[in-house]
Amino acid sequence: MLLTGYWKSVMKQIVYGLLVMLVAIGISSCSAPEKLGVGEQRVFRITHADSTGRMFSEIWTGPRLESFGVLEISSEYFDRAMHTSDSRFSTVRFSRLLEKFQLKRGEDAVLLNCFDDYQGILSLHDINRYDLRLATNIKLTSYRPDWLNPLLIIVPNGKQAPFQERFLTANIRELKFVRLNDYYAPLQKIAGHSPEAREGLEVFKNNCLFCHSLKGRGGNKGVRLLEAYNFSNESDRRRMLIDFKNSHHKDNSEKQDIEQFVTEEKLERVIDFLKKFEKQVEG
Ligand code: HEC
Repeated sequence: MLLTGYWKSVMKQIVYGLLVMLVAIGISSCSAPEKLGVGEQRVFRITHADSTGRMFSEIWTGPRLESFGVLEISSEYFDRAMHTSDSRFSTVRFSRLLEKFQLKRGEDAVLLNCFDDYQGILSLHDINRYDLRLATNIKLTSYRPDWLNPLLIIVPNGKQAPFQERFLTANIRELKFVRLNDYYAPLQKIAGHSPEAREGLEVFKNNCLFCHSLKGRGGNKGVRLLEAYNFSNESDRRRMLIDFKNSHHKDNSEKQDIEQFVTEEKLERVIDFLKKFEKQVEG
């Protein structure tokens, strides 16, 4: 009797285990970003709050966005950052889209959630100052990495946006209006008053957070740096710098050349900032 009871429970566990595996496979295949051919349209969402603060999302398509007027352009900024030449884009002025929304809750930025777990963010101020575009179609003359899909942020020629990862968000699936201060608050708190850590935070915000999340902000395309390294340990800090060079150099086949945006000195400031987390409990 005892034995059969035991084997029954073992069998049950095996059956449950198999069920959990099947469900997990189902979920992961549903959430995998869909693969679309070049030129096919994806839908994207625009999420904002009404005057009572209730959040809701509108579904948009490329053609709906294009109804504001399409401008065919090239971008020296893009070609420089991506090591390409003669890339062409069908773009819509981002500011034209912004005009459609009445923001009543002090929103001053747009969060850009992407299909590949990248999370960009742009201030409304930068969108207007650099006349940033949303590309609905991308024409490259060279190899195109998987993630390089519309919607894509483009800096048009003649606009001197700082050379940063910030102005290169692709694969956008959701635009969400937010407040910059709310978004960065948990990170500002960690940086505290140390000038080095604050400078490091700025570098991180402009070039790294989009893929290496901290405190629930940013994307998870890259590894969690605080889990991979103990920043209070000198040999870990050196290892991080070496790994960075190995992952983010200019011949990176996935075209994630982040090294071009930062100097050694700036990376040292990033480390000064990340060191600050060692004294806190990660949340
Ligand atoms: C576009 C997304 C993206 C951005 C932006 C980005 N990273 Fe990464 N990073 C990655 C991915 C993806 C990997 C993993 C590469 C691989 O597959 O080995 C990585 C790897 C790394 C590694 C090596 C980790 C390891 O375990 O080998 C370090 C260190 C690193 N990144 C630091 C940074 C820093 C610092 C910045 C900003 C200056 C930055 N990254 C910006 C996506 C990004």
